[in-house]
Amino acid sequence: MDKSALQIERAFYQPKLPKALQGAVKIKEGKLTQSVADQDEIKKLFPNTYGMPLVEFVPGDEPVQKAMNIGVILSGGQAPGGHNVISGLFDEIKKLNPENRLFGFLMGPGGLVDHNYMEITADLLTEYRNTGGFDIIGSGRTKLEKEEQFEKGLEIVRQLDIKAIVIIGGDDSNTNACVLAEYYAAKKYGVQVIGCPKTIDGDLKNEQIETSFGFDTATKTYSELIGNIQRDCNSARKYWHFIKLMGRSASHIALECALQCQPNICIVSEEVEAKDLTLDDIITEICNAVAYRASKGWNFGTVLIPEGLIEFVPAINRLISELNDLLAANGKEFVDLDKEAQREYVIKHLSAKNAEVFESLPEGVARQLSLDRDPHGNVQVSLIETEKLLSDMVAAKLTKWAEDGKYVGKFSAQHHFFGYEGRCAAPSNYDADYCYALGASASQLIANGKTGYMAIIRNTTSPAADWIAGGVPITMMMNMEKRNGEMKPVIRKALVELDGKPFKTFAAQRDKWAKETCYVYPGPIQYWGPSSVCDQSTKTLALENDK
Ligand code: FBP
Repeated sequence: MDKSALQIERAFYQPKLPKALQGAVKIKEGKLTQSVADQDEIKKLFPNTYGMPLVEFVPGDEPVQKAMNIGVILSGGQAPGGHNVISGLFDEIKKLNPENRLFGFLMGPGGLVDHNYMEITADLLTEYRNTGGFDIIGSGRTKLEKEEQFEKGLEIVRQLDIKAIVIIGGDDSNTNACVLAEYYAAKKYGVQVIGCPKTIDGDLKNEQIETSFGFDTATKTYSELIGNIQRDCNSARKYWHFIKLMGRSASHIALECALQCQPNICIVSEEVEAKDLTLDDIITEICNAVAYRASKGWNFGTVLIPEGLIEFVPAINRLISELNDLLAANGKEFVDLDKEAQREYVIKHLSAKNAEVFESLPEGVARQLSLDRDPHGNVQVSLIETEKLLSDMVAAKLTKWAEDGKYVGKFSAQHHFFGYEGRCAAPSNYDADYCYALGASASQLIANGKTGYMAIIRNTTSPAADWIAGGVPITMMMNMEKRNGEMKPVIRKALVELDGKPFKTFAAQRDKWAKETCYVYPGPIQYWGPSSVCDQSTKTLALENDK
């Protein structure tokens, strides 16, 4: 394999570990837990894995461990640091007993069901330490939810004599990890299942999980690109850049990039929903900024748009919700129709109000809302070109305002969508260390006989030595939500909190950013150099932790 100079040097980086995981480790059990809501229902659905205690690792005497084999799965969208979770897992199980072995299931949860796997050896890992991507074993979005899948998985687990499976995934994948843990526990199969909090979206966080891995690197990568665009924009002074950012439903990525780059506008979906804003309200807000800046002779600017925006416009959300029920109930009938007939079918079967909203949307956007959900039932928001939709609507309103004498200026738009550019970036020092420690924590949860837990690392705004390693029962994060027309136990998604410090900090400055040009240019992630540059956390994490 040919390698870049950075890859060669970065391979030597030794990720830092919390003190508690540096030598022999002892487990300390904490308080018993409850789910965040719907306790009775969740308890009934998870009788074997509900209510378990929080656990923390502390230095101690480690009993000699019998050799064990572990399986690992990368699930869902890529996030920087996945290879380091596997490295941490590998190094820690080898520390426990050099006879221990690690198997990777290929291309996501499907690898477990279809028995596609490979052994992860020290030599193989050397090629992947501190690199981005999930390519060591690949990832996939197969949803593990059926008993046949669990039983098929068990066959290969038995064949490879696997004691525990580690599922590295987002909220949906960790929900499935919990269902699998419960199933194996109920059947007394003696197979443990441990989750790891992954997703660039930053929406898998709560009192126990400070952040999901990958958010740090991905947002720094996007912020570098946005900063570069802002500098270009401020040099040529002739374009408005509409930049859509990945992140699925939550706006954490857009908000973090706004805090780092100080764009003219950043839309936060959660605010749109809370204030019951219409698409027209959003367009008016952008037009006001464009018109004001044009009056000063500044026909340029930047607008950050979270990819999930469309779902948060209340009228569109009501439409999506009815569409979800309609497609869940009549999906088969719908799929067989051609494009035009599908549109008519939807309009005919929706309530009058929602049909009206559906018809008012540009055809491409409306179609995307009625097309395939991903395997977890989510609308595939990354496929909706919101950045073009908004800029077209802004152009139309400005033309009208110009006719009415309310606006004089030139409006020319450029469009960008940043998502895939950041998901496989080489992990920042933060993600490299955080992921390695998560992997080590997962090994310790397994060695201590735990199942249905997620590995966690807390206190991550302090130096790595002081980080706290442990585990949290996955049921603790669950509540009941409607999915594909049915109520299901799922991990509650963390959206941007409007009374939280990150949003408040942004809201306090945004008027100034809209009117003036206050751009900040974060530049590329640095791996060597002053700690103030290389080890800075995200603004979100710093603000949430009063740093
Ligand atoms: P995960 O929840 O699996 O981590 O997804 C992350 C993500 O990048 C989202 O931000 C985005 O909406 C989605 O994946 C895109 O999915 P795909 O990789 O299948 O195109």
